[in-house]
Amino acid sequence: MHAGKVPSLLLKNARQVLTLAGPSEPRRGRALQELGIIRGGGVLIQGGKIAAAGSSRTVEARARALKAEAIDCRGCVVMPGFVDSHTHLVFAGARLDDFERKIQGKSYEQIARAGGGIQLSARQVSETKLGALAAQADAFLNRMALHGTTTVEAKSGYGLDVANELKQLEALAMLRRRAALEIVPTLLAAHALPGKFSGRREKYLRTVEVELIPRVAKRKLAEFADCFCDREAFTVAECRSVLATARRFGLVPRIHTGQFARAGGIRLAIEVAAASADHLDHATTPDIRALARSNVTATLVPGANFHLGLDRFPPARRMIDAGVAVALATDFNPGTSPTLNMQFVLSLACAYLRMSPAEAIVASTANAAYSLRRSHRLGSLEPGKDADVIVMDVDDYRAIPYYAGWNHCAMTIKRGQIVCSRMKHHA
Ligand code: NIG
Ligand code: FE
Repeated sequence: MHAGKVPSLLLKNARQVLTLAGPSEPRRGRALQELGIIRGGGVLIQGGKIAAAGSSRTVEARARALKAEAIDCRGCVVMPGFVDSHTHLVFAGARLDDFERKIQGKSYEQIARAGGGIQLSARQVSETKLGALAAQADAFLNRMALHGTTTVEAKSGYGLDVANELKQLEALAMLRRRAALEIVPTLLAAHALPGKFSGRREKYLRTVEVELIPRVAKRKLAEFADCFCDREAFTVAECRSVLATARRFGLVPRIHTGQFARAGGIRLAIEVAAASADHLDHATTPDIRALARSNVTATLVPGANFHLGLDRFPPARRMIDAGVAVALATDFNPGTSPTLNMQFVLSLACAYLRMSPAEAIVASTANAAYSLRRSHRLGSLEPGKDADVIVMDVDDYRAIPYYAGWNHCAMTIKRGQIVCSRMKHHA
């Protein structure tokens, strides 16, 4: 879009503006609590970028010269849009039978062996046409925007063969061209061994490395490559090989690991300089120390623990205190985390990970942006950055996780454009 065509906007009179001003590096330790709050502040948006964030008086003077449209944010919190850095956005149906089996006491892995799980989602994806997959993902994106998310990482991983993994990524490519939100595509071919390759693990992984990764890279269908390094998924050696090939083709590694057992994936993430290691419920103290010395973001997804009804949560407190760059994401998927509401994830992080509201906000904006290699452009309200801004109808940021399960988002702005709003004069 031509920058000059985007009208200038002034968000004024906010009770709190959370600028999150700070370096584009991962926020660790005490820096994870620094929201850069301006009380009685405003944000000026010009050409899709942040022009200024400061006291209402300062920004109003500049806004007058630009004839910016003013939006009164009295009683509200203005902050960066959420960056949901781990989702499985493209799927073709809920797994409601799995849900009931889980309630009856079956484990995630037992459900998978009984014909549910990832294989069921893969069957559903294979039976669904590209257009229908994209349409459903588009509907999810609209709902994410209503809840304040402005950037979404989205993985394949329910295709589990060349054609269907490509189909998932093609659906994302269609949406990248037309959706209001920013989509960051990730290839997750090493998610589960497809049923038809049972007993022939190497054959499947060879297809991924020899055929799929080169095709995905050539067509620029993904920026990242992920793998599921866990008990009953793929081994460290298998994931190392897939991620090394992906890296050679320009795809930056991410890893799902330590969800069900300590599988060695954290060390692998550090070894291959992954952008992120996700889940990490089984991280040990030496794992935490090693993570703290690295630039691998620890992306925690408590929505999955919650929905699986687990007692165990990742050791977030110990991670933050040790200096790990922690991020939060929904892990939105039909099996383990059917929530797409980042505000609810913040509530879970406060209740179960013992993160403070401020830490939860930094983890779901600035650090999530860093893990997607976008912290120079996203994750804080600073001059020159993209104007990805949300207005929350609470007068104290701590109320966002406190009133759990609500939707506090009154307006979502992506690159300076109002994507959705329920503010009075924008109803
Ligand atoms: O992040 N752990 C593996 N992958 C997903 C679950 C996928 C599924 O069950 O469909 C996760 O939790
Ligand atoms: Fe996941």
